[in-house]
This record gives sequence, structure tokens and C-alpha cells, in this order.
Amino acid sequence: MLWTTVSLSFEIFTKKLRSDKEMCGIFGCILKNGSAAPIIHAALKRLEYRGYDSVGEATIENGRLFIKKDAGKIDVVHSIRNLDDLPGRIGIGHTRWATHGAPLQVNAHPHFGCSDPPTIAVIHNGIIENFAEIKKDLEDKGHIFRSKTDTEIIAHLIEENLGQGDLKSAVSSSVERLQGSYAIAVISAKEPDKIICARNESPLVLGIADNAFYFASDTPAFLPLTNKVVFVENGELVTLNDEGFEIKKLVDGKPVVRKSRVVDWTHEMAEKQGYPHFMLKEIHEQPRCLRDTLRLQDKYLELLTTFLDRARDVAMVACGTSYHACLAASYMFSKLSFLATHPVIASEFTEQHGKSVNIDSTILAVSQSGETADTLAAVETARQRAATILGLTNVVGSTLTRVSRVYIGQQSGPEIGVAATKTFTSQLSVLSQLAIRLAKKRGKISQEEIDLLDEKIEKIPSIVERIVKTQEEKVKTLARKYKDNQCFFFLGRGISYATALEGRLKLMEIAYVPSIAFPAGESKHGPISLVELGFPVIFICPPDETRKTLIGNIMEMKARGASIIAICEEGDEEIIGMVDDYVEVTRGIPEILSPIPYVVPLQLFAYYMAIEKQCDPDMPRNLAKSVTVK
Ligand code: F6R
Repeated sequence: MLWTTVSLSFEIFTKKLRSDKEMCGIFGCILKNGSAAPIIHAALKRLEYRGYDSVGEATIENGRLFIKKDAGKIDVVHSIRNLDDLPGRIGIGHTRWATHGAPLQVNAHPHFGCSDPPTIAVIHNGIIENFAEIKKDLEDKGHIFRSKTDTEIIAHLIEENLGQGDLKSAVSSSVERLQGSYAIAVISAKEPDKIICARNESPLVLGIADNAFYFASDTPAFLPLTNKVVFVENGELVTLNDEGFEIKKLVDGKPVVRKSRVVDWTHEMAEKQGYPHFMLKEIHEQPRCLRDTLRLQDKYLELLTTFLDRARDVAMVACGTSYHACLAASYMFSKLSFLATHPVIASEFTEQHGKSVNIDSTILAVSQSGETADTLAAVETARQRAATILGLTNVVGSTLTRVSRVYIGQQSGPEIGVAATKTFTSQLSVLSQLAIRLAKKRGKISQEEIDLLDEKIEKIPSIVERIVKTQEEKVKTLARKYKDNQCFFFLGRGISYATALEGRLKLMEIAYVPSIAFPAGESKHGPISLVELGFPVIFICPPDETRKTLIGNIMEMKARGASIIAICEEGDEEIIGMVDDYVEVTRGIPEILSPIPYVVPLQLFAYYMAIEKQCDPDMPRNLAKSVTVK
């Protein structure tokens, strides 16, 4: 096979990569000679930023499959199991970010079918939406499952289909049944000279060297090995062997000819996929993360909703950004499902509620990391008094998941920028889904309202995509204009108060601009005395029931010479006509979902203010990603 090579500018290349999904890293290789395992191990280390709660490798030698996998970070697993000593020149590897199933050895990839010893091994990045239904079919046919993952069904499905043909056709007919996102790679001891890969939505890139062929989730995995890459597109099946690789369309088996490209990135550039900072990358990733929150397993959402339904009162404990998600959620639960919830800053919980919490109390702890000491301390206080603990976190396997009676993993993938962005909007999405479910269960709102909310929540990912696409340049200009202002107000009413608090926290923590957020109605009770000519006030103005009163608050500020920046609905001429600057958000978003799109311009504003002020947004001074001290 002839592979032509074209050189590629950094900019074009990054556009390509920016559509990629994150969460789990996959890698594999076919070497002409040498040992695959150490190369896989080193490549997985380079992909560790995609996930790191378990790791595994499988290689083939002399028609036998060798597998090592375990829970824990790569270095820890390697120190115990030596990931380098698997034999063979062909192999695959996986570093995991748990979505389905806790980070245990049994849930680590690769997965295999029923045969003992295993003959096929599968790795997967993505989420299979219809795995429960496929699992049931396979169980009816006698397959026995070991893990709680969605991936294991792929191995059993391939095993089932292998009865009718070779590995390539078995993979092809198996992926036909899969709904959701996947980049998979499969090896078989019975066809030991090849690796079969397939892609839908999750990224897959091939690497070409003189003496080896590779595949991976993305380019950082290859960089020390080769700079020649080929992108695999959705709906394509790849066969790698000693001769090179062949790409075919899954739908009709037609061959695809694609030129390789040369990349000249550093490892760090590749990890950020062309973005200058992780924070900006993570802001741009929000549509993907929000889509993934819409794929959460029904049974966990349902179980958590049942606990909430039975709760007499619910305290939502969290810190920082996660607290803002809880505050927004308290409006959602109250308005939609008539459930009274109390957002509590976790470090105050023991003082405020330590004596009153009891066996009848329900605690919903929200923590991206699942390791925040203040949140865990609040949970411990409640646990000691026999309260029911529910959890929402991004890190399955974190302490919070271990101490919760039921938890939901929000599936945002690792967040590396210290400031929470994608994990905040994902938390809001999960919490709004819970509120909508609870409303349905309790029959508190009409079917039409529920249908509308269900329809709108599906659209939120593309709405966020559009906001970033159409408003980013405008926000950049605003940051340039306001970069020298020493203090900002962030004002909103109702649920937008939570959005205001979050916008203010972002600006303070990464651009070091002291700022104040409060419900807009509070201004006249004190803070307005700070306002003088040119004082910047950011108003969050979705067109909900608070809008009329909010306009009154805008007028009050204007009358005192404030510079008003509005985050408002597209084409809201009344607001646009009265403010100095504005950023527009797509029309028709229901009130309870509004914090998700309305916070996005504020995240971008904080980011570009930090850039204007030459601050590093990924590593703000004095802060850590996970605060594990009280
Ligand atoms: C702000 C931020 C922090 C965290 C807080 C709680 O951008 O990231 O305020 O939200 O430290 O962390 P988690 O959610 O991990 O408990």
C-alpha cells in the first residue's frame, strides 16, 4: 500500500482535532520486530491526561493472548505488575476514565468474551448507549459477563459473530448493532497478525513509521515514534497488519484512500489539541460533555430520583463551582418538582446542620473530584447521624462514590484546567435531568411542559456549540475593553443568581479581578454605593419571569453611570438598547436550563481577561484542582 504524505499547518490540523472527544485513551501497535508492551506502556503514559483510573494491555505471541490489567494509575499498576513484560510484537492498551462500572480490575480494559483462556481482547473509548439491551440478548444466548462495563458486550458480540466469519467481518457486524460513541480495537489469538479498529464519534488516529504501524486516541501517543498520521473518520473500519493498513466504510465495505499528514507538534501542544490552554479546550469541549450527560444510565438517574422523591428535605453540599451548581439546582427542584432543597457550603455544614441532620435527612453531595475535604467532612457528619448520602461526581471511584448510597458519574472526562468549566455545565445538566424526572414522578407539571423540557435539553449541546462559535470573538473584544477595570458586579435574579456567582468566581480566580455577585434585587440594600461612572456591571438577563424587575435594576445602575454588559437572549432589542455591551445567547431556552448556556460567555470572559492580564488560566496562583485539606 502506498502512503503519500502531505505537510499540514498547525491551524488546519487543530480544526480537525477540535471535534474530538475525550475520555479514556487507546493505543496499539504492530511492530516489524521488537516488543510491543513497553511501547504501549510509554504511549499510555502520554495519553494519561485522558483518564487514569485503570490501565491494561493485551499482546499476542505464538497464537496466544497475554493480558495484564488493574485499577490504579499507570505508574502504580506498572510498579506492581510490570506492564513491560508481556511478550509479542502486536498489542493494544487502554487507560480508563470510568463511566460504566467502578474503577476495579474487573472493569479495566481490555475485555474479552466467554472463552477460557480468552481468545479475543477489546479496548474501547466512548459510551455504548444500548449496551443493556445487547447484554440481555447475549445473556439469553448463554454469555456470562464479568464486568459492569458497556465495553464487555462488544467482546461477547464479536465472539458471537465470529461463528459466522473472520475477525474483520465479526467486528463489522458487531459494531452495526452499537449505538453511541466508540473507538474500538480488537485482537484475536486465532488471527494473530492483525488489529481491527472501528470508529464512531470517539477519535481514532493511525500512525505510520518505517518499521511499525500504530493507532491511538490522538497524536500525543505517537509523537516520539512518528509524525506521520492518518485520521480515521466516523463509520470506518481499519485493519492493521505487517503490510500497513486498510480503511473501509462500515456501511458498504468500500475502500477509503486517505493521505497521511505530517505533524510537527510538541507533546504539550498535542495534549491541548491545539488550544493554548486546557481551560479554553475544556470550554470548547462542553457540547461533547453535555451530550454525554444525556447518555447517562437510566437506572441510576431513576434510583437517585426515587431517593429524592422519598426525601423529606434535601441538603445539597458542595464547595466553589459545585456549590453554584447546587444553588441553581435548588431553583430547578423547587420550580419543577416542588422539592425543597438547601444548598449548603460544605465547610459550613457541620456548624450549621451538624446537630439537626438525622436518619430522615438526605444529603446530595456534589463534587467534581469527589475528594474535596470539606465536602467529604460534611458527608461524614451526615453519615455518622445515619443520613442517606447521594453523590454526583466526575470521578467514579473517588471517595465520594465509596461513601454514597447511590451516585452518578457525570462523565465529563478529566478536567485539567484548575478552573471548573465543562464539569460545571455537566453538573447542571445532570441536576436538571433529575429535577425533570422528579417532576414527572410527582406529576407536578403538565405533560406539555415536560415534553418541551425534554426536547430543549437535547438541544442544549448544540446551543452551547453555537454560542462558542458565534460569541467568542465578541467576548474577546470585551475583555480587551474592560481589562483595566479593578472590580466588577455580576447580577442576576432567580436561577441566574447562581450563574452570576459562577461568572464572578471564574473572573476572580483566574484573572485576579476582585468581583462581587449578588441577587440583583439586593443592590439597593448596600452594594450600589460602590457604583460610579464607568463601573462595570454584568447582568445575566434570560427572558424569564424575573426580566421585568431586572430591567428596573439595570436602570438603577445606569442612572449611576455604570457600564452595563448584558448576557441576553439573541435579538432582545429592549435590553440591547439600554446597555453598553452585550453577548447573545440562543432564543427559546427554558428558565431552568438557562444557567448552562448563559454561563458560557462568562467562562470565556474570565479566560480572555486572564489572557489580557497575562495570567496563566490553567494554573492560577494559590489554587489546586482538588482541595484535599479542610
Ligand atoms: C472553581 C473550582 C473550585 C471547585 C471546588 C470544589 O473553578 O474549580 O471552586 O469547584 O474546589 O471542587 P469539587 O467539585 O472537586 O469538590
